[in-house]
Amino acid sequence: MAEKFAKALNEQIGHEFAAHQQYVAIAVHYDAETLPQLAHFFYRQALEERGHAMMMVQYLLDVGEEVHLPDIKSQATSYSAGVTPVEKALAQEKRVGEEIFALFELAREVKDYRAEQFMQWFVKEQVEEVALMGDLLNVVERSKENLLLAEDYIARENPGEGGGDPTAPPAAGMGG
Ligand SMILES: [Fe+2]
Ligand SMILES: [Fe+2]
Repeated sequence: MAEKFAKALNEQIGHEFAAHQQYVAIAVHYDAETLPQLAHFFYRQALEERGHAMMMVQYLLDVGEEVHLPDIKSQATSYSAGVTPVEKALAQEKRVGEEIFALFELAREVKDYRAEQFMQWFVKEQVEEVALMGDLLNVVERSKENLLLAEDYIARENPGEGGGDPTAPPAAGMGG
């Protein structure tokens, strides 16, 4: 029962680290293009993805299941158009949303109530991340000819700069 969920959660840890890798790649791209606000946005999102992976690691430690860290594919660090990385990012957040729903469903199916409770936070988190990336895509699409407009928007609005979420599950290595 719990093992079946643990196996699926280990796979999700891989997806979260892959998302981290992809966001670092996007941040590097914008950094190289001297778009520091977009770069900062994606460096921070990358850390959030790492955080998600480490919350899942902590959960597996807490319930006494094994942790497997998978290989992560390399990612492109240059893109032909300024909007492409954000399109990719939004697609990724939507995909992760589906993965989270599937994990939630699996937890219910195997009657793993700890797992179901654990996954609840991620359901909420994905709603926020899809919305955040959708907003950024709107702005970047409107600023295609001049991404400095998107830079201004990020500097002014600080999208995604929510600060700590006290309801977030504990992450491995963060103490507490
Ligand atoms: Fe994530
Ligand atoms: Fe995400």
